[in-house]
Amino acid sequence: MIRIESVTKRYPDGTVAVDDLTLDIPDGSITVLVGPSGCGKTTTLRMINRMIEPSGGRILLDGQDIAQQPVTALRRSMGYVIQNAGLFQHRTIVDNIATVPRMLGWDRSRARERARELMERVGLDAALAKRYPYQLSGGQQQRVGVARALAADPPVLLMDEPFSAVDPIVRKGLQAELLRIQAELGKTIVFVTHDIDEAIKLGNMIAVMRTGGHLAQFAPPDELLSSPADAFVEDFLGTDRGIRRLSFFTSAGLDVTTTPIVTVDADAAQIAERTLPELPYLLVTDAEGKPLGWAKAEELAAQAADSTGEQPADSTGEQAPDSADGQAPDSADAQAAGSTDAQAADSADAPAAESAERTAAERSPAPAAAAPLLPHGRPFVFGRESLRDALDCAVLSPTGWAVAVDGTGKAVGVTSQETIATAIRGAHARRAAKPDSPDGDAGEPVKALR
Ligand SMILES: Nc1ncnc2c1ncn2[C@@H]1O[C@H](COP(=O)(O)OP(=O)(O)OP(=O)(O)O)[C@@H](O)[C@H]1O
Ligand SMILES: [Mg+2]
Repeated sequence: MIRIESVTKRYPDGTVAVDDLTLDIPDGSITVLVGPSGCGKTTTLRMINRMIEPSGGRILLDGQDIAQQPVTALRRSMGYVIQNAGLFQHRTIVDNIATVPRMLGWDRSRARERARELMERVGLDAALAKRYPYQLSGGQQQRVGVARALAADPPVLLMDEPFSAVDPIVRKGLQAELLRIQAELGKTIVFVTHDIDEAIKLGNMIAVMRTGGHLAQFAPPDELLSSPADAFVEDFLGTDRGIRRLSFFTSAGLDVTTTPIVTVDADAAQIAERTLPELPYLLVTDAEGKPLGWAKAEELAAQAADSTGEQPADSTGEQAPDSADGQAPDSADAQAAGSTDAQAADSADAPAAESAERTAAERSPAPAAAAPLLPHGRPFVFGRESLRDALDCAVLSPTGWAVAVDGTGKAVGVTSQETIATAIRGAHARRAAKPDSPDGDAGEPVKALR
């Protein structure tokens, strides 16, 4: 554990960057220092590896005062990653990553072997090994920076705004990569950012700092969102706290039902018995159980009745090329038009929805799929994604019901906004009763899954 004990940093010009800061940074998890520009985050981080010496107080690493430890040994036990990666421009990627092992006396081939192994771990193509930093994108350079910090397998990683200089999509990828690596390696990571969403996404614990190096609150992200300590923290967190907090509640215990789900070849009897009184729609899946879209139960029933009569549903007798192999249309087709357009999805009369329906109907050989289909939107992965994901699916669904799928994309049930609302109230009540336990009937922390 890293213990920051009543630490103050006063620069020679009198600026107090950090003021009497006390913080216990737990082992094996990500602690984020977040706060507005100039609040003392970088100063705090750099005092941990003694790039800056405190003016008062002390910092303990596993109970030992770091001021008493040789600086070089201390720094080698702490990987350091900064914005724009700070790579050595005259060294190749593989040699950049091999820097610390080489300093530790590893021979060149062993150090390079380790570097290549790390390139793979951080998601860098081995073909980049011989390039120089300027021949890489910003996101790739950041990955090299992470690999270099991990090279000598230090127990601690200090990261100062490592992903701030890349665009939002690359940044999302780097954040996911960091969580994946952390799930494997379990380092003690101190991560500095001024982006509260990044803090919430990555942090197991978050220290919100305010100007003058004061600690405003130190709490897990869920607690920060539910109980900000004061108006400053609340303001810093921004809007939608309640909705964002739902990311911390697993969908594992959510009630889903398979009743209103039919396959494309469902007959009239199945359609009748699967139609719920509260839901005038059925979710149509392909033969493998992957969702294709919602159909009005009565239209589906009429279609199934038609197809059992003399007249085939497709009076031309021709089959669309895609259906020649007897496969149901890909679910993407059913979603192709209008799936992101709630307006169109809302009404079966809207032109975009109509054309999606026609496409689905024309391409499918099966009776049920010939009925008009409404897009089902993005389903949520049951048990893996959060109540926030489930709610989002339900809100975007033209029927108000969310579709739950398993890891392979097969439908495992559907659930209404009302049921999700009940689950949210239950999760809140459980969390209030047992604030320290991660929610989840599956007992799985949701953190790594976001
Ligand atoms: N060498 C220095 N001499 C004097 N003041 C300094 C020095 N370095 C930093 N400061 C001041 O200390 C305060 C904290 O700086 P620090 O770099 O720790 O902030 P930060 O939270 O990392 O900000 P940012 O988000 O902009 O990176 C600021 O007011 C800064 O101007
Ligand atoms: Mg800084």
